[in-house]
Amino acid sequence: MNHPNSNADGALVDPAATDAVTDTALLQVQNLEVRFQVGSRFGVKKYLQAVDQVSFSIQRGETLGLVGESGSGKTTTALAVARLVSAAAGSVTLDGDDLLNCSGDQLRALRHKMQFIFQDPYSSLNPRLRAEQVVLEPLTNLGKLSASTQLETIDRLFAAVGLRPEQKRLFPHQFSGGQRQRIGIARALATNPELIICDEPVSALDVAVQSQILNLLRRLQSERNLTYLFISHDLGVVQHMCDRVAVMYMGRIVEFADRKSLFNTPQHPYTHALLSAVPSINKRRGAANTRIKIPGDPPDPVNLPSGCRFVSRCPIAIDRCRQEEPVLAGSAQQQVACHRVAEPVPIRQLLADG
Ligand SMILES: Nc1ncnc2c1ncn2[C@@H]1O[C@H](COP(=O)(O)OP(=O)(O)OP(=O)(O)O)[C@@H](O)[C@H]1O
Ligand code: SF4
Ligand SMILES: [Mg+2]
Repeated sequence: MNHPNSNADGALVDPAATDAVTDTALLQVQNLEVRFQVGSRFGVKKYLQAVDQVSFSIQRGETLGLVGESGSGKTTTALAVARLVSAAAGSVTLDGDDLLNCSGDQLRALRHKMQFIFQDPYSSLNPRLRAEQVVLEPLTNLGKLSASTQLETIDRLFAAVGLRPEQKRLFPHQFSGGQRQRIGIARALATNPELIICDEPVSALDVAVQSQILNLLRRLQSERNLTYLFISHDLGVVQHMCDRVAVMYMGRIVEFADRKSLFNTPQHPYTHALLSAVPSINKRRGAANTRIKIPGDPPDPVNLPSGCRFVSRCPIAIDRCRQEEPVLAGSAQQQVACHRVAEPVPIRQLLADG
């Protein structure tokens, strides 16, 4: 049997070197690190490493999912990509342009290529602005628009997201949750971006409305060749939306795979646990048959355990896991950071036996 971290010849491969999409990627993130100062003791500053050596690329027109428990670093990764929080290290390029080291006009131009859709349409829209002003704001910030351009733009964007033209004079509180998210999407589209970062875009919505918004996002993607960085804790939504998925745990990517590999043959014990918590997905072939509960709480992010950061909760940890941090390695389809993935017995079996 071929090791999952090996190429066709059976050799272990470096994921960065095998990422076939790297050359043509719209967004490339390399070894991104974000740390927050969370106090000091006896003059020694304490830091929380929210994002640790995170690397990924997204091809034009692709949707990359970021999943993981609360506090795993998904939002901070996205904010650092957009330079809304400072990165301590790493590089981010958008369409080949260096995002972390540019300024002035170049930064403004790059920001227009990248927009956000947030989780909570209730709090992310300015309640004092009419819907048309909310949607046009990213453009009016750039300079004055003629009345006819404003009218044409707002009608075009409202139509694109399924809002009626007469709704443009209403205030955000006069819309339903789903409609408010449509306003958020129209606003994100205003600068004609190439990349949209969707941070839990449907988690505040009812299930029926969720699917309408997800379908809208998919339609817009195919019409406009949009690229999405899609953050969600809901694996059902991720399965519906994403081409590839990065699983984050305590600031690190622990598994990175195309959708089919991740859902059919998950590798990392943490991914197994996340999948086994979703009954409809758990029925699938690759997930461990028994439900795997992740014991305990995540470790204190300021004092991570040595070795593998999942060690305190992993049902199949061995001595090596306490000493050595596993690195992400594998094929272009699936990379995993776990010492035990090299063993002949599949992780699924180890978990089931344990
Ligand atoms: N401004 C900040 N100052 C200090 N710590 C922060 C700050 N922002 C985030 N953190 C910490 O960084 C870690 C990652 O947080 P982040 O919000 O990125 O997680 P997340 O995966 O998006 O979680 P959720 O699913 O709850 O949105 C957490 O431990 C969080 O407490
Ligand atoms: S490296 Fe060890 S502790 Fe970490 S996930 Fe793998 S088996 Fe568990
Ligand atoms: Mg978040």
